[in-house]
Amino acid sequence: MKLVLGQTLAFDRDPFAGAPEDAARWERQGAVAVEAGVIVAVGSADALRARFREAEVVDHGAGLILPGFVDAHVHYPQTGIIASWGKRLIDWLNSYTFPEEARFGDADYARAQADRYFDLVLSHGTTTTVSYCTIHPESVDAYFGAAAARGMRVYGGKTCMDRNAPDTLRDTAQAAYDQSKALLEKWHGAGRAGYVVTPRFAPTSTPEQLEALGALWAEHPDCLMQTHLSEQVEEIDWVMGMFPEARDYLDIYDRFGLLGEGALMGHAIHLSDRERDRLREVGASLIHCPTSNTFIGSGLFDTGGLKAEGQRVGLATDTGGGSSFSMLRTMAAAYEVGQLRGRPLHPAELLWLATAGSADAILAGDRIGRLVEGYEADLVVLDLASTPGIAQRAERAEDIWEAVFPTIMMGDDRAVVATYVAGEKV
Ligand code: GUN
Ligand code: ZN
Repeated sequence: MKLVLGQTLAFDRDPFAGAPEDAARWERQGAVAVEAGVIVAVGSADALRARFREAEVVDHGAGLILPGFVDAHVHYPQTGIIASWGKRLIDWLNSYTFPEEARFGDADYARAQADRYFDLVLSHGTTTTVSYCTIHPESVDAYFGAAAARGMRVYGGKTCMDRNAPDTLRDTAQAAYDQSKALLEKWHGAGRAGYVVTPRFAPTSTPEQLEALGALWAEHPDCLMQTHLSEQVEEIDWVMGMFPEARDYLDIYDRFGLLGEGALMGHAIHLSDRERDRLREVGASLIHCPTSNTFIGSGLFDTGGLKAEGQRVGLATDTGGGSSFSMLRTMAAAYEVGQLRGRPLHPAELLWLATAGSADAILAGDRIGRLVEGYEADLVVLDLASTPGIAQRAERAEDIWEAVFPTIMMGDDRAVVATYVAGEKV
């Protein structure tokens, strides 16, 4: 038994569903009791110290204890090319991304990059990632192997492409199905791993490949499915020229059985009303990637409007189209995008998106993303005064939301004082 002490913020409900400032309970001197990797109690430090007298105590002082961040859309193989200059989506993929992804057929390289990636994200307080790997099964083994070595709950899958990509990054409809199936059988449910059926996006798959992956997902409906939807306007024009029979971009996935609950639609920026209605009707998840959407120049995701109409929304870095490994930096970008759309997101909304919101989006909201008894004990502890600039602003705060907002806007890995995976500090 371990007692982790600090300030705690525990959400009772979705802050988008009412006054955001009332959505969470705050304890100035709170505690999270952890045993065998699971949260057994959340409450005041005094109460839990009295209840668990024998427990080992780890006191983080004024550190803010939150659920570990859940990054709902990343490309771990793009770690090495993050912050590559000057291209929009299709040129960025061809110039930077595909040459780097081609290196992941080398299992040693894939393992080294997976280790580097997980060390980076843990130092930023992220405890769950949902990643595209590359076309190579080696890259999937490297990802899940590195996560298992760290005890992390992660999701991912082999990125399938059989057209509009370099020769070395193309499979076939049959190979995509067979290799994805073999990897799914190997990794899905192994420890804390979850497999995600992963067609990269409509223009890099033939109709035959989309159909094969739709069939695979139908055979394994407890897996997630991830792809990209309506990220850039040039992309949409290109895609619609390739699938003239489809009503819109979303309809392509719909026709091939790649839409439903558990479908994670990355970006989802330029949506028609019909697409929005259909996404909500099936309960798909929309993954907001704000640093990527500004970095690649894609557009402004409508978090406020989509949440108000009842969509499931998660938050993500989209490393390495995104320009950061940090979910703090990602929340800051989400705030700025909200401002540009005339809807400033409240700190409660931002923190919720990075934890429970993303967990709900990946259908894991019953086990991670909340400080609740029975949940897996993945935690991050934040120093709300990690730099002089943040400290001097936080000092003037009159409530917890004003105290945490400078860290959301200006914080990075220096604000992360501890990350716990399954109750163990890493
Ligand atoms: N669309 C298809 N592939 C990618 C990718 O790797 N990154 C981003 N941002 N968009 C994509
Ligand atoms: Zn992506």
